Amino acid sequence: MSEATTFTSENGFEPERLIGTDLVRATEAAALNAFKWIGKGDKIAADAAATDAIRGMLNLMDICATCTIGEGIKDEAPGIFVGEKLGTWKPGSPGLSIALDPIDGTTLTSKGLPGALAVLAAAKTKSPDELAMAAVPSVYMEKIAVGPKVAVGTGTIRMGAPVEQNLELIALKLGKRVRDLSVCILDRPRHEKLVAAVRRTGAAIRLIGDGDVAGAIAPSMPESGVDVYLGVGGAPEAVLAAAAIKCLGGDILARMWPRDDDEKRRLEEQGYGEQLRKTYVSQEMAQGDGILFVATGITDNAMLRGVRVDGHIATTHSIVMRARSGTVRYITAYHDLTRKTIRLSSEPMEIRL
Ligand code: FBP
Repeated sequence: MSEATTFTSENGFEPERLIGTDLVRATEAAALNAFKWIGKGDKIAADAAATDAIRGMLNLMDICATCTIGEGIKDEAPGIFVGEKLGTWKPGSPGLSIALDPIDGTTLTSKGLPGALAVLAAAKTKSPDELAMAAVPSVYMEKIAVGPKVAVGTGTIRMGAPVEQNLELIALKLGKRVRDLSVCILDRPRHEKLVAAVRRTGAAIRLIGDGDVAGAIAPSMPESGVDVYLGVGGAPEAVLAAAAIKCLGGDILARMWPRDDDEKRRLEEQGYGEQLRKTYVSQEMAQGDGILFVATGITDNAMLRGVRVDGHIATTHSIVMRARSGTVRYITAYHDLTRKTIRLSSEPMEIRL
C-alpha cells in the first residue's frame, strides 16, 4: 500500500510513547463492557461485549494496524480475526501489528472467578504488510516462561528437556533449592504427567483454572512468587505473553502443540510445517523494540485488580509496558458512569456504559 506509514524514531520521536494511553483506553473499554457479564454464565456474550468495545476504541485511533493475533479456531469465539484492519488508517499514521485477547479468561468472567484480563500488545512496523508479531495459528503451544534472572540460551533451559533438569537449572540461576521453586501450570488433564513430574522434584505448584497470559508473565513480575510457568496453553496467549515478558526482560520458549495427527496434518497442509518444528523465543514472537503491552483487570488477579463499581464511579486497573525503555506503569482510572461514554464497533455513535 503506497500510503504506507512509517513508525520512525526520527528526532527522538517515539510514537509508541503517545499511543500507550489510547491502547489502555481500549483494554479499559473491553473490561468495562465485560463487567456486566461477570458471573452471568455466558462466556460468549462476555467475549462479544469486550471485543465490541476494544475494536470500537481501536478504530478511533489514528493508527494503521493489522491484527496479527486475534481469536480463532481453537475456541470459535466471536472476535477480531487475523488480518483485520484496525484504526483509521489515515495516511502518515503509525503502522502496528496488534495481538489481542479482549478477554483472557472468558470462563473465569462468566463464573465471576478471579484471573480475567483484557489484553493487547502492539509492535511497530515499517510498512502495513510487515508482521512484527509471530503469526502463529490459533492452536496450542507448549510453553516455558521464566523471569529475567534465568537466561534462555545455550546451556540453560531447553524445550523438550526433562522437567527435572530444567527446574534444576532454574533453581541454580535463582539461587534456590528446587523444592523452594514455585511452578505455575494450567489445571488440565493433559498436564497430569507434568504435574506428577514437578511434584516428584518437591517444587510447589500453583494450578490455575484459566488465564495463562498472566500465568506466563508471572515469573517476570517481581513479587509474583512464581518462578516458572510450564505447560500447554493457547498459541495466541503465548505471543501476548511474549510481548510483556520481553518488556520485563524475561523469556518464554514456545513450540506448537497439535492435539493429534489430524491437527498436525492440517497445520502442515496450511503451510505451518516449519513452524511446527520450531521453538520460538520471546524475541521472535514479539519483534523489535517498538513493543507495547497493555492489560486491564476484569476480575481480580495477581497482576491487576478487576473492575469495581462504587456508586456512579467505575474503577479500572491497568498496566502498560514498553520494551524500548522497560518502563512499567500502573494506571488506575476512575470513570464517572453518569458521563462516561464508549465507542462500540457495533454502534454508530458513542454510548453510555
Ligand atoms: P479464553 O478466555 O480465550 O477462553 O482462554 C482462556 C485460556 O485459559 C487461556 O489463558 C489459555 O491459553 C487457554 O485458555 C487454554 O486453552 P484450554 O482451555 O482449551 O485448555
